[in-house]
Amino acid sequence: MRKKILFVDDDTAILRSLQRMLRREREAWDMTFLDSPHAALEQTLLSDFDAVVTDLQMPGIDGLQLLQRLRETEKTQDVPVIVLTGSSDRHLKREALDLGATDLLNKPIEIEDLLARLRSVLHLKACQDELKCQNELLEHKVRERTRQLEASRLDIIWRLGKAAEFRDEDTGNHILRVGYYSRAIAEVLGLDHDYVDRLLFAAPLHDIGKLGIPDSVLLKPGKLTEDEWYIMRQHCELGAAILQQHSNMERVFEDWGGLGFSTVYDSLENPVLEMAATIALTHHEKWNGKGYPRGLAREEIPLEGRIVAISDVYDALTSERPYKPAFSEEKALAIIREDVGEHFDPEVYAAFDLCIESIRTIRNKFSDEQDAVFAERTPAVVPG
Ligand SMILES: [Fe+2]
Ligand SMILES: [Fe+2]
Repeated sequence: MRKKILFVDDDTAILRSLQRMLRREREAWDMTFLDSPHAALEQTLLSDFDAVVTDLQMPGIDGLQLLQRLRETEKTQDVPVIVLTGSSDRHLKREALDLGATDLLNKPIEIEDLLARLRSVLHLKACQDELKCQNELLEHKVRERTRQLEASRLDIIWRLGKAAEFRDEDTGNHILRVGYYSRAIAEVLGLDHDYVDRLLFAAPLHDIGKLGIPDSVLLKPGKLTEDEWYIMRQHCELGAAILQQHSNMERVFEDWGGLGFSTVYDSLENPVLEMAATIALTHHEKWNGKGYPRGLAREEIPLEGRIVAISDVYDALTSERPYKPAFSEEKALAIIREDVGEHFDPEVYAAFDLCIESIRTIRNKFSDEQDAVFAERTPAVVPG
């Protein structure tokens, strides 16, 4: 590629002499000669120069100011600048170097010196450009890899929630809807983008603890006895235990020693799983303190737990379950309203009420009939 070089000198005779000296380089270099530093500054913004050669003492903007402007501007800050000076003033030369001049050349100019300096700064610029290009490529690859890792992490989290649902009653897209309802409520509450996104993936894991509940209780068709309820209620703590970081996992990673990281477990810090653990533990707590497992009240219950509580109940009420038909939205909303300030946080309810349109859209979009996201369940294997 032809290299682009800009020459700036208020003395047009010097510019003409430079032009003559360098005419044999016209094949390889694209050269612009300007006698106005103002025009030069404009040109550097419009064109991508590989080098600038400037006089030092000029009226208006002098060489030092031009240099300073070039260094201050992002587009030109790395362009090599050779300063030509007729003065033997060491102070000015020092100043030019301090301002970022790449090289200095005394007038009168010897063609060999100028060529040598220019070739050297052009080589430097080419190396800089190459390095910059490689860095950008590397950054792009890192961003892409991070995105893939994040996606695969969320995918696994999502499948974990789905696994738990397979153990439970046929709840179709329940976990998906609870994720989306919760996100809609969090958005209305004005929570930050990261929180809202995390909630979408964390809320579906609220009942993961049901994996640890025996079939005799979980799948019992009739009413549960007091003891069975006691077992059933443990799904909250079981869920939190599944999702929290464990010291024995730390040991596994230490023993494994893979990926070349000794502290790989620390880097596994996973805000989605952390939030999911909190939700698993607190989604059955009630605003009035009469929920389970801890009997927390009001703001003692983490906000994500309060949000998922209303999403979960609304979805259970409006969906068909083995023990009940799907209630109309009107009936479901009436039941929920009755429980505001008892079961539900009034502020979270207000947000839920504000986004009821969006919630209705989500309910229709991910209705169990449409099963838009997951394929049909695999039929149960019948023992031969
Ligand atoms: Fe639950
Ligand atoms: Fe649920």
